[in-house]
Amino acid sequence: MLGIAKEIEKLEFLDKAAKVSSKIGPKLVPEGQIKDLLTGKWLGHPVHPMLTDVTIGLFIGAVTLDVLGGKKHSRSAQRLTLLGIASSLPTAWAGLADYVDTIGPQRRVGTVHAVGNATALNLFCRSCAARRRQDYLRAAAYSVAGAGVMAGSGYLGGHLAHHLGVGVDHTAFEQWPDEWTPVLDSKKLPQKTMTKVSANGTDVLLYRQGEEICAISNTCTHRGGALDEGDAEAGTVTCPLHASKFDLCTGKVIQGPASSPQPSYEARVNAGKIELKPKQ
Ligand code: FES
Repeated sequence: MLGIAKEIEKLEFLDKAAKVSSKIGPKLVPEGQIKDLLTGKWLGHPVHPMLTDVTIGLFIGAVTLDVLGGKKHSRSAQRLTLLGIASSLPTAWAGLADYVDTIGPQRRVGTVHAVGNATALNLFCRSCAARRRQDYLRAAAYSVAGAGVMAGSGYLGGHLAHHLGVGVDHTAFEQWPDEWTPVLDSKKLPQKTMTKVSANGTDVLLYRQGEEICAISNTCTHRGGALDEGDAEAGTVTCPLHASKFDLCTGKVIQGPASSPQPSYEARVNAGKIELKPKQ
């Protein structure tokens, strides 16, 4: 399966479909409160993976009843399928909110993932229709086919997260110094100018406002953008890649699509040097 996912990453013809979705996506997921809601700013965690558990669980429950329960349990299978179909709408919407910020291989795999999910949904809808006609054998066949397609597209969803880093906090593996660590001569940090420094090999963004020195990770938690290349304004920094906005001192997400806050550091001046250590 991994080999197939890797091949999908290279399918450049998918970029045409991606161009169409680039136009439609932002209309369905407008920047601001709706996108923040769907990407998980309120949760501190992406929303889409959580919702997929609900949808997949409902459909798998329906398939299990279809296969093992037979006609006797078809009413319960029908309810689970209907709930699965209903839950797939917010799940797909949250997925689209993540998808609109993808590029290149991520976008190609995301496109196939979306097409796979739409196909699975179609099969579960057909299963429902067949059950209504009391054609239980056909209903079970559509259910099993839907579950098979869903498993394949679910694998691609995992590939997007685990191999391509979509929805992953890009500061997760940063090495933070345990002790106070000198990073810069204090005189070299002007007022209200973002300065990138290295603390034990981790890029940190420094910002001085008045007496206060603020320090947060320079790598955007969303998709790894370099915050020092963004814009600082009113105590916040805007990421140059997808315009997430963070508090320069606390790292708090002010505006998505980022859902995880930036790691932040305590800063002090000692013997003319700015020193950092992670906030407890
Ligand atoms: S990388 Fe996407 S907002 Fe920073």
